Amino acid sequence: MSAPVDLVEAAREAMGRAYAPYSQFPVGAAIRAASGRIYRGCNVENAAYPQGACAEASAISAMVTAGETAIVEACVIGGGEGLCTPCGGCRQRLREFAREGVPIHICGPEGWRATFSLGQLLPYSFGPTNLDIIP
Ligand code: THU
Repeated sequence: MSAPVDLVEAAREAMGRAYAPYSQFPVGAAIRAASGRIYRGCNVENAAYPQGACAEASAISAMVTAGETAIVEACVIGGGEGLCTPCGGCRQRLREFAREGVPIHICGPEGWRATFSLGQLLPYSFGPTNLDIIP
């Protein structure tokens, strides 16, 4: 398997703009929304550590700001030996706008590493359907 080149390159470009002076761990995220448009984001850290934002959160903000609320595919890229999977909080943030079958591609600097469905990353999730927001 692999990930679409346009999504990976968008995430990689975003990673290049990360503001991560404290962790030295830049992350990029790219989201393909229902329109087909791609939204990207990077992690933005803060001297007051808990105020930092993850790359996925930044990309979701860009998507919603543009008027979209449906994620069809996402990609996260980061360094290190392990898979740079979304943190727990970002899995829930993605869940707000993505159904369980939505693929989340995980990449390293060299390219694609793995793909999981959102349902695999966040099984038995609580989401908008629980509150009857979406049928
Ligand atoms: N980070 C993300 O941007 N996304 C994730 O899902 C995992 C962690 C960022 C947060 C922090 O700026 C840095 O990676 C190290 O944790």
